[in-house]
Amino acid sequence: MAEAPPVASAAVPEFQTSPGMRDILAPDSVRFRRFVDAFSSVVEPAGYQLVIPPLLEDAGVFQRMGETTDVVAKEMYRFTDLGGRDVALRPEQTASVCRAFVEHRPTTPWKTWYAGPNFRYEKPQRGRYRQFDQVGVEALGVDDPLLDVEVIALGWRFFEALGLRQVTLLLNSLGEPEERARYVEALHAHFTAVGDGLSEESRATLARNPLRVLDSKRPQDAAAVAAAPLLAEFLGAEATEHFAAVRCGLDALSIPYRIEPRLVRGLDYYLRTTFEYAGGTLDSAQNALGGGGRYDGLVEALGGPPTPGVGLALGVDRTLLACDDEGVFTPPSTAVEVFVVDTTGGAEALAITHELRAAGRSADRAYDRRSMKAQMRAADRSGARLAVIVGDDERAAGRVLVRPLRHGGDQTVVDRPDLLTQLEALLP
Ligand code: HAM
Repeated sequence: MAEAPPVASAAVPEFQTSPGMRDILAPDSVRFRRFVDAFSSVVEPAGYQLVIPPLLEDAGVFQRMGETTDVVAKEMYRFTDLGGRDVALRPEQTASVCRAFVEHRPTTPWKTWYAGPNFRYEKPQRGRYRQFDQVGVEALGVDDPLLDVEVIALGWRFFEALGLRQVTLLLNSLGEPEERARYVEALHAHFTAVGDGLSEESRATLARNPLRVLDSKRPQDAAAVAAAPLLAEFLGAEATEHFAAVRCGLDALSIPYRIEPRLVRGLDYYLRTTFEYAGGTLDSAQNALGGGGRYDGLVEALGGPPTPGVGLALGVDRTLLACDDEGVFTPPSTAVEVFVVDTTGGAEALAITHELRAAGRSADRAYDRRSMKAQMRAADRSGARLAVIVGDDERAAGRVLVRPLRHGGDQTVVDRPDLLTQLEALLP
């Protein structure tokens, strides 16, 4: 006899989300969408237009961000599709936006914003996921340091709009490509001289990408990192001037910042201005709420004309954790305004909910001809402010009862044709 297929127990379902991936249910999902709305209402009035790149690109698009970038070399969801193409789920969206720029050649300045998921095969923990969302802006075609200031200020304004207070803006300049290259050489020499004094992980990082050793939080590396040369010593006149203009612009807008000479960020396309917003309530390993900077060579690396670019991306998941910690931007209520209780069989509820919804009111009801008691329980659970009740008597008399559910008050009898106007008076 054939064996019966295994039956998943109720406690442990057969299928669950894979590590680092989550379902986001209401009310968090509603807050999530409002977060994106709040971001658009800060950036759209500044001339940024929504761009929606695909989640999947030729893997080469991301490789141009720098082969030594961990995000590209070690964390990409990369595979061959059924047509034999080497593709990857995007680990971020700056490269996709630059690819789109090269493909469509829009007029410059091209100011865009985006929102959506990204994928990195990282070790999951609080605030670090394998699928995570970002909102961001990218501005292409302008070299002006005041555009850097605009981008940084938009991020800052957005945190203010959320109500977050414990955010620190960290600022640095990575210089021009040659300056950055000389700095990387100097770092390589410095850390090589430390030799076995460095942790094993940092020695491996050193071979790949000396800049990233500066990010090490391991106690064994602390002394070598503290003694490392500073980028500021390598900046030439132009980069110094650009950086000064950025600082001056931030000062003019009274946006506080801290110069962080060791801020190198995890992606390798940055030149000149780089910045990060650190959340004060989060664990230091995952406290970057967002960041960005200039990437003047990326469009060219993707086959386009030399085009300067600057942008930022904010982690939605992490910023919402910071909001939880600070008790701001709390999940909104997902309750409907009106719950219709119908003991006549359900057709009245069908008609009334339809009418209310068409008039812009939110309304729900119970199904399956349940008892009055069960329907009233459902009405209470729904969180609605009012119940509209119809029994056989009310139906016969062409009336309904309107009963407040949450803040007390008397039940009223309303003529059916007057229901909408009565509700206007009772609901804000
Ligand atoms: P990024 O620093 O890699 O920059 O990511 C920006 C933000 O995304 C981080 O500060 C963090 O809040 C969030 N994030 C990154 N990885 C994860 C993860 N595994 N789980 C949860 N949140 C995460 C970029 O992606 C650049 N594209 C930013 C940019 C735009 N630069 C110029 N333009």
